Amino acid sequence: MNGPTIIDGKALSNKIKENIRTETENFKKQTGKVPGLTVVIIGNDPASQTYVAMKEKACQYVGFSSSVIRLKADTTETELLECVKKLNEDNDVNGILVQLPLPKNINEDTVINNISVEKDVDGFHPFNVGKLLIGKPTFVSCTPYGIIKLLEEYGISTEGKHAVIIGRSNIVGKPIAALLMQKSKTGNATVTIAHSRTKNIPELTRQADILIAAIGKPDFVTSDMVKDGAVVIDVGINRVDDESAKRGYRLVGDVDFDAVKDKASAITPVPGGVGPMTIAMLLENTLLSFKKANDLI
Ligand code: GUN
Repeated sequence: MNGPTIIDGKALSNKIKENIRTETENFKKQTGKVPGLTVVIIGNDPASQTYVAMKEKACQYVGFSSSVIRLKADTTETELLECVKKLNEDNDVNGILVQLPLPKNINEDTVINNISVEKDVDGFHPFNVGKLLIGKPTFVSCTPYGIIKLLEEYGISTEGKHAVIIGRSNIVGKPIAALLMQKSKTGNATVTIAHSRTKNIPELTRQADILIAAIGKPDFVTSDMVKDGAVVIDVGINRVDDESAKRGYRLVGDVDFDAVKDKASAITPVPGGVGPMTIAMLLENTLLSFKKANDLI
């Protein structure tokens, strides 16, 4: 039997970044301006620090102006809202990303609600989430957007398919469900969302033509949970201790890749699957915001 298609998110993200880099150069010649993204990070969470460093590097690569505002762990909600307000008013900033999770003393909803809807490149603002749900053009949150792009790139049709999503987060589970159920070329799927209170998850996942795991539990999806020929998308990025690894840990997904790959027709690896696409789509959203702000579309 031939092995599954390994869905290469690194390769597609590189291709997208090349296109964005070229467009950015052209816009710079045309307008003298480049898209600007500001990332705000609070505290010292190691995973968040890594993600933010990757976002900054990607911005530099494509020629965006980017900055990272690092706030101390005991920043108050008022201070953070003040910072967001300044960024909302700064014409050089097209995208604002406040890295989540936030410290316990800060209300995440309040912060997201105060990010300008025109600069909400994460697509987390309730106004943009609402537009996504009713199928109107908006900033699509980056991970679900990246998954849709991967399915498109690999010619994986979603029409009439049963997509089972494990995880109901606002960042991934809910928006990918909304996208896959839309009446659109990349939608028209029948969608089931499973979560921590779902009874008999394996029974549902075994019915999936497209299985999306987004729960943050290492190797949660085992071979017996997957139908032969399913497309498996692994959103998990979990650190597990590994003394033999240079950094003392390695990254694993929510899917037991080695076991599941023999059943799947196509599967995303971790790392190198969905992860790089999230960053590429953040750049795409920032470019979109820049174009809108400068009447370039
Ligand atoms: N934390 C983990 N993923 C994300 C993301 O996509 N955006 C933000 N702002 N924070 C995150």
